[in-house]
Amino acid sequence: MEMNSIKTITVVGAGLMGHGIAQVFAQAGYSVWLVDLKQAALERALNLIQNSLNILEKKGVMPKKQGREVLARIRFSTDLMPAAAAADFVVEAVAENAEIKRTVFGELQRLCPPTTLFASNTSGLDVFNLVDPGMAGGLIATHFFAPAQIIPLVEVCPGPQTRPEVVELTRRLLLSVGKEPVVMQRFVPSFIVNRIQN
Ligand SMILES: NC(=O)c1ccc[n+]([C@@H]2O[C@H](COP(=O)([O-])OP(=O)(O)OC[C@H]3O[C@@H](n4cnc5c(N)ncnc54)[C@H](O)[C@@H]3O)[C@@H](O)[C@H]2O)c1
Repeated sequence: MEMNSIKTITVVGAGLMGHGIAQVFAQAGYSVWLVDLKQAALERALNLIQNSLNILEKKGVMPKKQGREVLARIRFSTDLMPAAAAADFVVEAVAENAEIKRTVFGELQRLCPPTTLFASNTSGLDVFNLVDPGMAGGLIATHFFAPAQIIPLVEVCPGPQTRPEVVELTRRLLLSVGKEPVVMQRFVPSFIVNRIQN
């Protein structure tokens, strides 16, 4: 996959982290799906994103009315199927629970096109051990910090099977949305250490 083929980002989990990550990609012009099991979580996410965009407009960080365009790029859904089918790059931001993440990645593997790349927002769980080996080459951790729409740092951590081009593409994707990715050498729980490049 090339950078210019990444058009649609699917964020799974619309909680504290997921809604901010969705906003980051929508602000940068990507088409975004934000998925959650709970309609209430999606409604809360919509309100939080709307408020954040209003503040950015009021402070002059973003031109007036641009918030509306950003919001129009985000589709909110309780149905993973269309969001997965459209995804070039997925960011998983569901609850910090190994079984939930294992199930979500299993569904994503079944529903996404074979070219889709996968990222997890966890740093504490060894997500690389939770997925089917068939998807491990296209899986990476992208650890955003809260609030994701504000904090520039994103820790990027490849697993033992992650293809080198996936690391580079993820790094470039994050740069394209205004983030400052720091690539880790290898996974250790909660990473932070083992930084090899900026
Ligand atoms: N909270 C933080 O400061 C922080 C910072 C960095 C990373 N993280 C990591 O990011 C991830 C998300 O954390 P959070 O704080 O946003 O959690 P959260 O509890 O606020 O949100 C998780 C959301 O996932 C949804 N969800 C659960 N199962 C789902 C499923 N099968 N399909 C779709 N949605 C599902 C829940 O309904 C909930 O809305 C975790 O792995 C966490 O460790 C959190």
